[in-house]
Amino acid sequence: MSFVMKDIFNWGQGFTIDFDLNTGMSEKKETTKRYLSNMRGMFADDEAMKKELAKGDPVVYEFHEMKAPEHPGDLAFGISITYPGKVGNEYYMTKGHFHTIIDTAEVYYTLEGEGLMMLENPEGDWSVQPLKPGETVYVPKRYAHRTINTGHQPLRTFFVFRGDAGHDYGTIETKGYRQLVVEKDGKPVCVPNPKWERDWMKILITPTSFLTPVNVQAKEKIEAFADEVVYNMTGKPLQPDQLIHMLEGVDGYIAGLDYITTEVIEQAPKSLKVISRYGAGIDRVDIEACTKRGIKVTNTPGTNSVAVAELAFALMLDVARNIPQLHETVQKGEWKRSEGIELKGKTLGIVGLGFIGKNLATRAIAFGMTVQAYDPFFDETFAAQYSIKKATLDEVIRQSDFISLHVPLNDQTKQLINANVIAEMKDGAIIINTARGGIIDEAAAAEAVKSGKLGGLGLDTFEQEPLINSPLKSLPHVIFTPHTGAHTAEAVEGMGRMAVDNCIDILSGKDNPYILNK
Ligand SMILES: NC(=O)c1ccc[n+]([C@@H]2O[C@H](COP(=O)([O-])OP(=O)(O)OC[C@H]3O[C@@H](n4cnc5c(N)ncnc54)[C@H](O)[C@@H]3O)[C@@H](O)[C@H]2O)c1
Repeated sequence: MSFVMKDIFNWGQGFTIDFDLNTGMSEKKETTKRYLSNMRGMFADDEAMKKELAKGDPVVYEFHEMKAPEHPGDLAFGISITYPGKVGNEYYMTKGHFHTIIDTAEVYYTLEGEGLMMLENPEGDWSVQPLKPGETVYVPKRYAHRTINTGHQPLRTFFVFRGDAGHDYGTIETKGYRQLVVEKDGKPVCVPNPKWERDWMKILITPTSFLTPVNVQAKEKIEAFADEVVYNMTGKPLQPDQLIHMLEGVDGYIAGLDYITTEVIEQAPKSLKVISRYGAGIDRVDIEACTKRGIKVTNTPGTNSVAVAELAFALMLDVARNIPQLHETVQKGEWKRSEGIELKGKTLGIVGLGFIGKNLATRAIAFGMTVQAYDPFFDETFAAQYSIKKATLDEVIRQSDFISLHVPLNDQTKQLINANVIAEMKDGAIIINTARGGIIDEAAAAEAVKSGKLGGLGLDTFEQEPLINSPLKSLPHVIFTPHTGAHTAEAVEGMGRMAVDNCIDILSGKDNPYILNK
C-alpha cells in the first residue's frame, strides 16, 4: 500500500491515496480527490483546534468527521484529537468503550503525540500496537479497536475508512474492552477490565451538583465504575412518577431530595440494590419499604454539618440585625438604619445536638452566647468540653432568646413548634430552622410574628418547597433561604465523594459504615 498522508498538509502539491480498504489497492482517484478537497475545509480550522488544545481543557476527546459520504464505497476521513493530561485518555469512545467497523478495515496515521492502538479480534484475542508520528497502523476488518494516549502531549491520529461501512457499537452496550490501560509508576500498563467479570451496571444520579465542576471527581469515579450512568436533567428533586420511570434497570441510585415514597420502592426494579442519599436527611426515603425489598440505604452524615451550621449562624445574625431588609433599602437609594440586637450575652437553645447542632454551638460560644441544648442522646463529653448546658425541651423553649432546630423530621418532631409551644417562649424569641419544614407550624409562627410574640424567624426549610404561598411571606424580621444549607463548594464535594463511595461499596459487596438499614 502507499498511503502518503503527510502531503495532505501541503495543499500546493498533489497527493495520492492509493489504498482501498476492501481490496488493498484503489484506483478511485475521483472519489479520493473529492474527499480530500472537503477535508481542506476541515483542516482550515487547524488553528482553532490548536487553540482548543492550548487551553488544556479536561475534555478527553474531540471528533471531527466528514459529512456523510455520498456514494457506497466512498472513502470517509476524520481526525481525532486526544487532549493531553493523563495517560489513558482515549479518543472517541472513551471509558473503556470501543467499536468495530464491520464491513471494512481502517487505517490510522499518527500526526502528533504518542499512543497505543488496542486491537481485539472477534475471538477476543487482543494486541497493542504503538502509534508514532508519521507511521500508520492498519486495523483489519471486524477488529474492535481504540486509540489511547500514552504521553502527556495531545495525540492526533488521522484515520480513513470506507464511507458506507457499518459500525457495530453493540459490544459497547454490554462489556467494553477486556483490557484497560492505566498509569502505573508513570507508565501505561494493561490491566483486565473488571466489567468483563460482572453484569451490566446502571446508576441513576439525581443531585444536580453532579453536573457542575465541583463534583467532577466523584462523577469520574462512578462513571469509571459503572457501565451506564444517567442523570436528572430537570434541575429539581424528582417526584414519584418521574422517579419510577428513571429507575428502570438501575442497580445503584445516588439520591438528592427526591420523593422516594412507598409506591416508588414497590415499583423499583429488582436490580436496585442501593439508595445512596447525598446528604444527611432521610425523611423523604421510605426506609421500611427499602428494607422489605432488600435495598440498602446509606447517607453522608457530617459532610454538610459545617455548611448548615454556618447558614444557621448567618440567619441568626441576619434576623438580629435585619441585614436583608437593610440591603434592600440601600439598593433602592434609601438610607434608613434599623436597631438590631447583639448575640453576645443571649441564650441559644439548640434542639438536636448532632453534627450540625454541635457546629452551631461552638460558633455561638465564640460569639459570647450561653448555649443550652436538648437531645435524647445528649453527648455529655462534647457538652462538658464546650460548657453547653444540658436542658430539657421545655427549658430550651422557655429560656432561650434564639432557638435553632437541628432534628430530623419524623412523627416525634412534626409540628414540634406549634402555637402552644410558641406561647411558652420568651417574648421576642427568634427561631431558626435549617432542619426540615414541617417541624414548625408555619401558620402559628406567622400569627406570633404579627402579634409581636416572636422577634423573627430565619428559615431555610419549609412545609412546601419551593415556597410559593405562605402566611410568613412579607412579614418583617422573617428571612428565607431556598433550602440551601448544604450548598457550599466544600459540602457539595464531600457529599458527592461519600455518596459515590457508599454506592460503589454496596454494589461491590463490601461493608460500609453508613448503611442505615443493615
Ligand atoms: N438545610 C439543609 O440543607 C440541611 C442539610 C443537612 C441536614 N439538614 C437537616 O438537619 C438535620 C440534622 O442534621 P445532622 O447532620 O445534625 O444530623 P444528626 O443525626 O447528626 O443530628 C440530629 C440529632 O437530633 C437528635 N434528635 C433526634 N430526635 C430528636 C428529638 N425529638 N428531639 C431532640 N433531638 C432529637 C439526635 O439524637 C441527633 O443527635 C437533618 O435531620 C436534616 O433534616 C438540613
